[in-house]
Amino acid sequence: MNKESNEMILVLDFGGQYNQLIARRVRECNVYCEVNPHTLSIEKIKEMQPKGIIFTGGPNSVYGKDSARCSVELLQLGIPVLGICYGSQLMAYILDGKVTTAPVSEYGKTEVTIKDKESQLLAGVSDKTICWMSHTDYIETAPSGFTVTAATPVCPVAAMENEAKKLYAVQFHPEVMHTVEGMKMLHNFVFNICKCTGDWKMDSFVESTIKKLRQKIGNGKALCALSGGVDSSVAAVLLSKAIGKQLTCVFVDHGLLRKNEGDEVEAVFGPQGPYDLNFIRVNVKDRFYAKLKGVTEPETKRKIIGEEFIRVFEEEAKKIGVVDYLVQGTIYPDVIESGLGKSAVIKSHHNVGGLPDFVDFKEIVEPLRLLFKDEVRKAGRELGIPEYLVNRQPFPGPGLGIRIIGEVTEEKVQLVQDADAIYREEIVKAGADKNLGQYFAALTNMRSVGVMGDDRTYDYAIALRAVMTSDFMTAESANLPWEVLATVTSRIVNEVKGVNRVLYDCTGKPPATIEFE
Ligand code: XMP
Repeated sequence: MNKESNEMILVLDFGGQYNQLIARRVRECNVYCEVNPHTLSIEKIKEMQPKGIIFTGGPNSVYGKDSARCSVELLQLGIPVLGICYGSQLMAYILDGKVTTAPVSEYGKTEVTIKDKESQLLAGVSDKTICWMSHTDYIETAPSGFTVTAATPVCPVAAMENEAKKLYAVQFHPEVMHTVEGMKMLHNFVFNICKCTGDWKMDSFVESTIKKLRQKIGNGKALCALSGGVDSSVAAVLLSKAIGKQLTCVFVDHGLLRKNEGDEVEAVFGPQGPYDLNFIRVNVKDRFYAKLKGVTEPETKRKIIGEEFIRVFEEEAKKIGVVDYLVQGTIYPDVIESGLGKSAVIKSHHNVGGLPDFVDFKEIVEPLRLLFKDEVRKAGRELGIPEYLVNRQPFPGPGLGIRIIGEVTEEKVQLVQDADAIYREEIVKAGADKNLGQYFAALTNMRSVGVMGDDRTYDYAIALRAVMTSDFMTAESANLPWEVLATVTSRIVNEVKGVNRVLYDCTGKPPATIEFE
């Protein structure tokens, strides 16, 4: 990220659950923002020259033996600090205010009364405003030098500030949307208090990243495993703009992609497409089908697909010889999740496109490391990547292999591809895709009796799945309009030979998973 020309707000992570959201909200003000662990050294922080620092919430009490802390020096640098929830209690605690267990915990939407009309942080906020609270401890007494700027009947210090020292704190969460005027408060902090000008925007990211990649890679060679998903596509295009033909993209078509997906990816990245890169499409479906023959156990299927993928990629990489850089489409949530030591939601245990440690390369390049998914999509649009690629829903590495229950065969792949294409087409046509995290068709291994014309059939059942989710850890089954389901059903049974029944999966996650295997 081009820090020479961009001002930056530093978010120090004390383990709260909304940390990514804080960073995102700051970015929505066109100010660049980075989340770092609370253990970041003072020296490093000084070096980064943030215009402001935000302490996040966290799960602990400031009195806990192992609670995350920071040194008082951080509050004396003259850099504005905003403490949120645990971050506010920590600020009070360090500066000798009184933090204690609240007699009543506050959780959820809470009416907060503004106590000080002169507050810089709360400037322009209504006298009574709804904020999102989630705490068991609270600040009972603000440290000396602080003015209490807001309170609730339960919480005597819902917000406090020390303007001279540029220290601000709120017990509630301004970053979540339930805090009705939260954006106003963050805006006040970023612009009025930290004096940012809002010089960061996505196209400056695209331009400056291309420039930096060019400088870094020079005449070197880079290799990218292109899946056709949003992240790897955007990473590949950035690299191709930076180094052109020095980039080779290997696209493994394992025959488990969605209908026409291989050709769509090739149309964009191949020789007919607009980008000047080396594109290698490896068509290895037969190899994958052969390996999957007779295999019904889900984990074994996943393992076979993953291993075979790596083997193919390795073979292609060897043909290219030594590469200097391996390009990864890692995005910010992946970085934060692994940084916090939590298990990565999607990529860690599943991603067959994960880091191949066998390829000989000098360094990994991750140009999207600091972006959220929708920022990646935005960058993709600016780079001119077609909407159908930029807007793609998440698609698992093992592809349709885990959307076919039981043995995978070429015939079954085709069946599920056709049904899935119809389903996706009708959902989009009906405009029913707006709140859906993922929607797809899967092939059950159930066959049942049906009647077609005067004949008896004994064919497969297709299962339709549509889920609403933001984190993919939990999901709700979507309440799709019946007319849409009816149209899809009638098209599938009429157009996809071998299917005589369509079922809708109403199960949430948990207890089901999003995928079927
Ligand atoms: P489950 O089925 O575990 O899926 O509820 C959660 C999310 O992860 C995606 N998924 C995968 N993504 N490689 C991937 O890159 C995989 O092996 C894989 N398995 C599941 C799934 O599509 C959903 O978004």
